[in-house]
Amino acid sequence: MGPSPFIIVAIDGGAASGKSSSSRILAEQFNLLHVDTGSFYRHLTAELLRRRVPPTDAGALELTLAALEFSTQIDGRSARMLVDGAPAGDDIRSQDVNSMVSHYAAVPAVRAALLAYQRGQREVAQQHNLRGLVMEGRDIGSVIFPDATFRFFLHADPLERAKRRAAEGQTDSITERDRLDSSRKASPLTCPQGAIDIDSTSLTLDQVVAKMAALIAPALTA
Ligand code: C5P
Repeated sequence: MGPSPFIIVAIDGGAASGKSSSSRILAEQFNLLHVDTGSFYRHLTAELLRRRVPPTDAGALELTLAALEFSTQIDGRSARMLVDGAPAGDDIRSQDVNSMVSHYAAVPAVRAALLAYQRGQREVAQQHNLRGLVMEGRDIGSVIFPDATFRFFLHADPLERAKRRAAEGQTDSITERDRLDSSRKASPLTCPQGAIDIDSTSLTLDQVVAKMAALIAPALTA
């Protein structure tokens, strides 16, 4: 038996569809790097809001994005994006960021600024001797890693998702974010062809993870 292969697990889905919790558990279970790309878009949004660069000002956005430097800090098994050396603050989960992030994420220049950085997480995982990475977002299986070993797409009823966010004590306009994320031209939220579609509405987190883990485990012992 040769060395176990390096695997990439892509998990896409709408807001509060269970991506973060399931990816975090899978990362622990299989020794993978956990990469939450939503936190990257949130961090960049908080930075652009701080610098008062609106998503509609293409010129200022281009100049600002070109000057920002992205690097990675590993926290346990999670990748944290640093912008000009600084980690994200708690404000990335604020109402301001919740309401603006999808507007910035719809701008092609913003997506382009994060593209190579996100793909570079493969090397970060390899450098840390992890067995692979699990990356969650909206366009991971369609754009970032279309050749991922596994591509999952999580669905859940909007009412159930709103309940999950409320249980976390968060006010989040998930329906509006999903509408913007699904209707944008640049890398819209969509279940890519060939991805494994899981409806988590009436499943517990453990059941969702078990479905994914049952597919992943054999690939790591192959
Ligand atoms: O995953 P989370 O809900 O934290 O993502 C915040 C926002 O970041 C999404 O609503 C979306 O606008 C954007 N996003 C994206 N592409 C990704 C991840 C997140 O456009 N791969």
